[in-house]
Amino acid sequence: MNTSNKLLHKLKIGDVELENNLILAPMAGITDLPFRLICKEYGAGAVCTEMISAKALFYGDEKTKLLLNTNGEKRPIIVQLFGSDVEAMKAASKYVENIADIIDINMGCPAPKVVKNGDGSKLLLDIDLAVNIAKEVVKSVSKPVTVKIRKGWDDNHIVYEELGKRLEDVRSKGYNITSEEQKKNISEENVI
Ligand SMILES: Cc1cc2nc3c(=O)[nH]c(=O)nc-3n(C[C@H](O)[C@H](O)[C@H](O)COP(=O)(O)O)c2cc1C
Repeated sequence: MNTSNKLLHKLKIGDVELENNLILAPMAGITDLPFRLICKEYGAGAVCTEMISAKALFYGDEKTKLLLNTNGEKRPIIVQLFGSDVEAMKAASKYVENIADIIDINMGCPAPKVVKNGDGSKLLLDIDLAVNIAKEVVKSVSKPVTVKIRKGWDDNHIVYEELGKRLEDVRSKGYNITSEEQKKNISEENVI
């Protein structure tokens, strides 16, 4: 891919160098191995798995492990984990450490079946827990850790500035913001 285009440039996340800054977003049910292979083939700088349940990995769920199949895949690969249980997140991040070049923590998923367990965007309502999860994952692995967050849970809980600052303090290598609140699909492009 031609990176002389002004919008495209090389990107470094931690010690991982990406050929360009086009990163395939994690999409449950979509960003499986064949889809990732195609996106890489067409020039993505990095690709990401769909969100993977830390708890399921923690309990050794075989179907979940299949989501981590990266056979034949070119690096770098981002593995996204979701969960709000600190021990499960630590164990899962260790489990994926040798598969992933970068580990991304999902703090943005609004799906009811995810938030009802306190996972995904529900963490935006408990910043201390969110930061602690990031801190413990960063401590557990030697790979760069990124965090995907939303602006906030709703209009009354816009937390991206505070959470972003605190995540910088725990030295997660980057965070990316989905510019919507969890409760409304307001797209505010100027937020990043
Ligand atoms: C079908 C589908 C599945 C998704 N699954 C995930 C996921 O597993 N993890 C995640 O962080 N975001 C997930 N997302 C959100 C996307 O990664 C992305 O943030 C969202 O589509 C907004 O991107 P856009 O502004 O480029 O449209 C999903 C989105 C879609 C449409």
